[in-house]
Amino acid sequence: MPGGAVDLVATSDVEHVEAPVTLKAYMMCAFAAFGGIFFGYDSGYINGVLSMNYVIHTYENLPYSDDTNTAIWALPSWKQSMIVSFLSLGTFLGALIAGDCADFIGRRTTIISGCGIFLAGVILQVASTNYKLLVAGRVIAGLGVGFVSAIIILYMSEISPRKVRGALVSGYQFCITIGILLASCVDYGTQNRLDTGSYRIPMAIQMLWALILGVGLFLLPESPRYFVKRGQLDRAANVLSRLRGQPVDSEYIQQELAEIVANHEYELQVIPQGNYFNSWFNCFRGSLWKPNSNLRRTILGTSLQMMQQWTGINFIFYYGTAFFKQLGTISNPFLISLITTLVNVCSTPISFWTIERFGRRPLLIWGALGMLICEFIVAIIGVTDGQNHKAVSAMISFICIYIFFFASTWGPGAWVVIGEIFPLPIRSRGVALSTASNWLWNCVSFPKFLLRNSMR
Ligand code: BGC
Repeated sequence: MPGGAVDLVATSDVEHVEAPVTLKAYMMCAFAAFGGIFFGYDSGYINGVLSMNYVIHTYENLPYSDDTNTAIWALPSWKQSMIVSFLSLGTFLGALIAGDCADFIGRRTTIISGCGIFLAGVILQVASTNYKLLVAGRVIAGLGVGFVSAIIILYMSEISPRKVRGALVSGYQFCITIGILLASCVDYGTQNRLDTGSYRIPMAIQMLWALILGVGLFLLPESPRYFVKRGQLDRAANVLSRLRGQPVDSEYIQQELAEIVANHEYELQVIPQGNYFNSWFNCFRGSLWKPNSNLRRTILGTSLQMMQQWTGINFIFYYGTAFFKQLGTISNPFLISLITTLVNVCSTPISFWTIERFGRRPLLIWGALGMLICEFIVAIIGVTDGQNHKAVSAMISFICIYIFFFASTWGPGAWVVIGEIFPLPIRSRGVALSTASNWLWNCVSFPKFLLRNSMR
C-alpha cells in the first residue's frame, strides 16, 4: 500500500488487536454521538411549533386576539405536511451527496460542512414569517442534517473500538431522543408566547447544537479508515494513536492498523474501485442470492432503515401534539407529547447493554413483535371507543409501551447495523444510501394529509 512509512505488524489474533478502552478514548468517540441531538432536535421541534396558536395566526395571516378560542384551529394538513416533509427531502439529498464528500474530503470535514449548511438553513427559518422562506430554510437545513446524519454513523463506526462500537452508536440514538426531548421542552416553554419568540426561540436554539458539533469535531481526529483508503498510513497511525490513547509505535496501534489495512486490501481485491460511477455501481454488484454480496448488504441497509420508518414512530414525534389536541379529550396535549418523548429517552439506554449482550438480530425481532402488539391494541381502541376518556388513557399507555419497544430495539439497532455491514471500499456510499432511505421513507410516510382519517 503506498504512502506510509509505517511498519505494519500483522496478527491473526483479533481479540488482542485493539488497545484497552481508556476513558479519554471513550469520550472522544462518544462526542460524535452529539450529532444525534442535532438530528433529534431538528426533527422534533416542528411538532410543537406547528400547533402554536401564534404560529397558526402568523403563517395563516389571521388577526390575533387573546379572547378568541383558537384551540380548535390548526394549520391546514397539507401545509403541515409540506413543512415537515421538506426537511426530510433535504436530508435525503444531503445524505446522498455526503456519501461522495466523505470519500473526497474526509468524514470529519463533511460533517463540519454539514453544520455550516445547516446554520444557513436555520437563519432562513428564523427570519421567516411566511411559508416560502420557512420551507426554503427547512430544505437547506435538511441538506445539512443529511450530511451530518449519514456521516456521523460512518465516522463513529470507524473510530470506535470494536468492543464498544454497538454501545457507542446506540449512544447516537440516545442523543437523538434527547434532542427530541429538548425540542419538546423548549416548545413547551414558548407555546403561550404572543410574539415571534414562540417559534423563533425553538428555531434559533438549533444553531447551538450545530456550533458545538462543528467546533468539537474540528478538535477531534479524522477517521483512520479514511486515511487508509487514501493510502496515507502515517496519518492513519497518528489519528489511531490519538483515538486509542497509545503511542504511535505501540503494538496496539501497529496491530490495529495492520488489521485495517489488511481488510482494506482484501476488500479492494474483491471490489475493484474503478471510476466515479463504478464506485456507486459497486454498491449494487453481486448476486441477490449470496448473503455477503454488496447488493445484499445495500438491500439490507436500505430496507432496515425503511422498516425503521415504517414502524410509524414519527407519527408520534412529528404530529403527536396535534393528534392529542384533536382527540378533544386531552386537556394538555403538549404535556402528553412531552411524556412520550421522555419514555423515548429513558428506554434507549437499555440498548447499550442489550445490543452487545444479545446481538443485533434478536433485538430487532423481539422489538418488532412488541411494537406490532401495541399498534394493534392502539388501533383497536382507536376505532372502537376513541372518544371515551378511559379508553384514550389506555391508548396513550400503549403508545408509551410501543415507544419503549422502538427506543430499546429498532431505534438504535437500525443505525448500528448500517455502520457495520459495508466493506470499506463501499462503506461511505452504503451508509449514505441507507441513511437516505431513512429520510426518504421518513418523508413519504408522514405527509399528514394521508393520515387525516386517523386525525378525525
Ligand atoms: C429515527 C427517527 C426517529 C427517532 C426517534 C431515529 O432512529 O431514525 O426518524 O425520529 O429515532 O427516537
